[in-house]
Amino acid sequence: MALYFGEEKEHWEAVGYLHDVDYEKFPKEHCQHVRELLADEAVAEEDIRAIISHGYGLCTQEVPPLSNMEKSLFTVDELTGIVMASALMRPSGIADMDLKSLKKKFKDKRFAAKCSREVIASGFELLGLTPDVVMQCCIDGMREHKAELGI
Ligand SMILES: [Fe+2]
Repeated sequence: MALYFGEEKEHWEAVGYLHDVDYEKFPKEHCQHVRELLADEAVAEEDIRAIISHGYGLCTQEVPPLSNMEKSLFTVDELTGIVMASALMRPSGIADMDLKSLKKKFKDKRFAAKCSREVIASGFELLGLTPDVVMQCCIDGMREHKAELGI
């Protein structure tokens, strides 16, 4: 998504790694303890904001996703779950996954049912991008890391 928006990939990746920082300690109050955990970690305010915003309307009402990074994180957090599950079902994983097959899995609401299609669709809306563009970004981005992801 960073590449799509022409922004700094390493920066977005770092926020991605951090985005669930409070989940392990506070699974029932997810996104509500980000600030206290990162207060002494030299994480920029805009990044803390982005992390909190990924739970907007789900586990916090505090910070709506506004920037490209925030809207992207909010959307792909759920969408990558479907890409992941879909890749795990395929004999050659994500290597030859195309948009068409991902869209089929997306439409099948019983598949990876925990990944909310409504949240993802609202993310597309926020981003102002078509599902095709965002889904292709996810496939491309995850394919680049297929070894680490085990897909
Ligand atoms: Fe999360």
